[in-house]
Amino acid sequence: MNPPDPRWYKDAVLYEIPVKSFYDSNGDGIGDLPGLVQKLDYLKDLGVDCLWLLPFYQSPLKDDGYDISDYYRIHPDLGTLEDFDRLIEEAHRRELRVIADLVLNHVSDQHPWFQEARADPASPRRPWFVWSDTDRKYAGTRIIFLDSERSNWTWDPVAKQYFWHRFYSHQPDLNYDHPPVREAMKEVIRFWLRRGLDGFRCDAVPYLFEAEGTSSENLPATHAYLKELRRMVDSEFPNRVLLAEANQWPSDVKAYFGEEDEFHMAFNFPLMPRIFIALAKESALPIRELVAQTLPIPASCAWGVFLRNHDELTLEMVTDEERDFMYHEYAKHPKMRLNLGIRRRLAPLVDDDRRVMELLHGLLLSLPGVPILYYGDELGMGDNIYLGDRAGVRTPMQWSPDRNAGFSRADPEQLYAPVIINPNFHFESRNVESLRRMPPSFLNWLIRQLRVRRRYSKVFGRGTIEFIDTPHPKVLIYRRSFEGTELLCLFNLARAPSAVELDLSGFRGYTPVEMVSEAPFPPIGELPYFLTLAERGFYWFRLDPPAASRPDDGPR
Ligand code: GLC
Ligand code: CA
Repeated sequence: MNPPDPRWYKDAVLYEIPVKSFYDSNGDGIGDLPGLVQKLDYLKDLGVDCLWLLPFYQSPLKDDGYDISDYYRIHPDLGTLEDFDRLIEEAHRRELRVIADLVLNHVSDQHPWFQEARADPASPRRPWFVWSDTDRKYAGTRIIFLDSERSNWTWDPVAKQYFWHRFYSHQPDLNYDHPPVREAMKEVIRFWLRRGLDGFRCDAVPYLFEAEGTSSENLPATHAYLKELRRMVDSEFPNRVLLAEANQWPSDVKAYFGEEDEFHMAFNFPLMPRIFIALAKESALPIRELVAQTLPIPASCAWGVFLRNHDELTLEMVTDEERDFMYHEYAKHPKMRLNLGIRRRLAPLVDDDRRVMELLHGLLLSLPGVPILYYGDELGMGDNIYLGDRAGVRTPMQWSPDRNAGFSRADPEQLYAPVIINPNFHFESRNVESLRRMPPSFLNWLIRQLRVRRRYSKVFGRGTIEFIDTPHPKVLIYRRSFEGTELLCLFNLARAPSAVELDLSGFRGYTPVEMVSEAPFPPIGELPYFLTLAERGFYWFRLDPPAASRPDDGPR
């Protein structure tokens, strides 16, 4: 790999992959690690830097692997430890990094730890979980999986006590008040980092500790333990990254960066729904407000910016009014809703509107932070709201117009989930092979856009952001600056063309150059700068200084 820059993640683009959904190498209908290895060249070509793998550990798969029954084993459907080692080696050979999900908060009820704990009150495992004789403790704690769980407590007939769980009742929470649990998870981390993993996406981190009279979220004890993990990782495994899944309000998520001593990265959960609100309302304000609220953050830290992921589009951290608006705009059919969210993929969410898909990616790739793509969204893949839970956004990746979308040689009925055959999103046209052959396809557009972003990854990843005021409420404009490079990004959220007059007096004599085509626009003069944007259109410009003042070795 290249000389290790400990802040490598700040310039990266991430790509999220459920291994079972990506490519099936042995024809059993389930994607696997050797299959993923075969597709690394595709990911390299796409232009991403780091893969985030969903849980691949031993599991009864009642929550797609987020219910782990052995942290030290790979689920046999997905491969072996040797396959994992090979994946790391092959990825690193291509200068791709790999991080994996780390599920700290809970295990599967099939995990031997829980089986031992429930079987015997005197077992040393008993205190590894949170037990109670009543189901009324910690009453201030919300329920997350509202559609399936009525309480965070479930009666265990074997233990003859209630056990605590923030997610499904088959996912007992580990008891972080118990020191051996804290040590056990450190060992899990060591095991995988020693095998060459580049870091973790840490699942559900706000919920590790609970306390009476609180919401049992974001507690000081939780932050203290996470800082302990960071110290351990920094001292034993340099240049790795920890990414927090903390679905919280802005100030609460920001706390997970600590003083550069907790997480390197955190998903920008509050920003994500505001992007969709801004789009539906044709208003720049929701994005401006949220970006302002989520900055500044410590210099070595980064937001993970995303549009969609493997879960429902969560609406936990918006007001009731905003949630109603989102449901009305994006989830007309009741089957599109799940818990407090919308279980749809990106392209169907925006009615497959190509302009909107480009606009959203123009934002995703230029807002402060690390863009995170969800597998298949680069194809404008469809979803299937008639599959249960979140399975509809986890269907097989579409590689070609062949049987099973080229995902597997199995009989179609053997696939872990059916491929997408809705006529508007049919895999026969929406697949890697067909889209790569069609120069103006969305996939090819995104590959070009990612290449441009790569040339300016330092500006987008590390630069400052400054919003530029315009009387036009539907146009979002910001400047990104880093070490003398100036970029100007404009987004027309309106469904109609917009004309804007910009005060760029600080840049008199500069030439805006459109960054994809390298086409120069008229230089900035005395008067306000006048630009028109197509409906839902966007531009990325580089502001080139007048020839005389141009630095010799700019990042061009
Ligand atoms: C996280 C995961 C989700 C999972 C839950 C419980 O929110 O993203 O998929 O169901 O944790 O582990
Ligand atoms: Ca397989």
